[in-house]
Amino acid sequence: MSGKNNKALVIVIAAIASTGGLLFGFDTGVISGALPFLKSSWGGMSSGQQELITAAVLIGAVLGALGAGRITDIIGRKKVILITSLIFAAGSILTGAAPSIGFLIGSRIVLGIAIGISSFTVPLYISEISPTKIRGALVSSFQLMITIGIVASYFSDLAFADESNPYSWRWMFYVGIFPAIILFVGMIFLPETPRFLIGKGREEEGRKVLSKIEDPENVASAFRDIKTEIEKDKESVGYAELFKKTWRIPLLIAVGIMFVQQFVGINTVIYYAPTIFIISGFGGAKAAIAATVSVGIVNVLSTVVSMSVIDKLGRRKLYFIGLIGMAIALAALGTFFLLKDSLGASLKWVTVGTVLVYIFFFAISLGPLGWLIISEIFPTRVRGVGMSIGALSNWFFNAIVAYTFLKLAWLFTAPGMEIINNGDVAHPDPNPAGSFFVYAGVALLGILWGWKFIPETKGVSLEKIEEHWRSWKMPNELKE
Ligand code: BGC
Repeated sequence: MSGKNNKALVIVIAAIASTGGLLFGFDTGVISGALPFLKSSWGGMSSGQQELITAAVLIGAVLGALGAGRITDIIGRKKVILITSLIFAAGSILTGAAPSIGFLIGSRIVLGIAIGISSFTVPLYISEISPTKIRGALVSSFQLMITIGIVASYFSDLAFADESNPYSWRWMFYVGIFPAIILFVGMIFLPETPRFLIGKGREEEGRKVLSKIEDPENVASAFRDIKTEIEKDKESVGYAELFKKTWRIPLLIAVGIMFVQQFVGINTVIYYAPTIFIISGFGGAKAAIAATVSVGIVNVLSTVVSMSVIDKLGRRKLYFIGLIGMAIALAALGTFFLLKDSLGASLKWVTVGTVLVYIFFFAISLGPLGWLIISEIFPTRVRGVGMSIGALSNWFFNAIVAYTFLKLAWLFTAPGMEIINNGDVAHPDPNPAGSFFVYAGVALLGILWGWKFIPETKGVSLEKIEEHWRSWKMPNELKE
């Protein structure tokens, strides 16, 4: 088979596996359009119950990321993704058919477990199956699918929203079954990764897979490199190995990059964009939701931009360009909200414009980079547990940011700075300026931290990255 055909095959493999990202995006995004209907189901529910229904997915994701790390290193990447697609399907059916609030919360936890597991097993699978040269773009296809899933959920929510039927959320949830089936059927035909197979002593199978995905002239050397690195850490698999001194730096990078990815406030935009737009002066929910769709679309398109340059420009450049852009956009948002009185009616337009700039810089950098970097930095034998810690941190930080945004906004709203929309003095909104300044501060910290801790993994084989940590070098010393 020629090199070109191999490349086409790997692209197909990555595309099928990244359906896991579509489910991640869809199932986290779907709740925004379902909530207005859920509110009045079963005779109405309290805001506490709505928060629980929303939070259940994040709780499940933390559990899934925590529980499945070792399993991926034991039974393999492929089997775990197969099982996860079944949990996705079950979760979609159970949430759609939920007969009570308690049942719905339970099923959203089940769905969250699938999201948590797939959030690290899919990028892990793709990175182990990718040839070094295009690994960045292929693993980023996972992020692309997340962003497509988010937009798809907005559109599907719009399509199923039926004002005359308080239970129209059921179909919004059922739709998730389709990508779950695609993932399940597709994965049946995909191979296990060569690194997992060789690590388990199934060398011939591993070599066979390698010969399908690597250029013919690289198969022998790739096989040798994988084998050599695996021999070095033969003794143990699991958390005990991961917490050894040698792997302290990759562990720190994984938790650190997820901290920055979440604490620059991305999900205040993804989850609360309509709320932010209404606070900035958009008349009704409909206009605010339309503006939110534009955020989703820019998110998708900018991820494509990132994929096309990530293996040329490299990870570090994108990281710093993205964070500088986000810091400026966040500081600008904070300033606009401070100047709300002088900006008047134009506040809403500068808010939408700046949020779009912010999303662009996130999507070219930290969006794909978070999942990509954690898929590259751990040694083969503990890649599953290592990535599960990265994913766990992601979901944990995500939950903190999502549940503190409005509280933080109120905390920093000085008397007289509240926002009053439509003359409703009795129900003022908080002024989010302070929260945006906090996130801008995190972006600056991320730049300082990343200077030392973000490795340039472009063009470097997973085996060479592993060797780099063994020789106790700093992340910023890694080179092609
Ligand atoms: C993040 C999610 C976020 C999404 C937005 C992902 O990389 O982990 O928290 O909602 O990007 O596109």
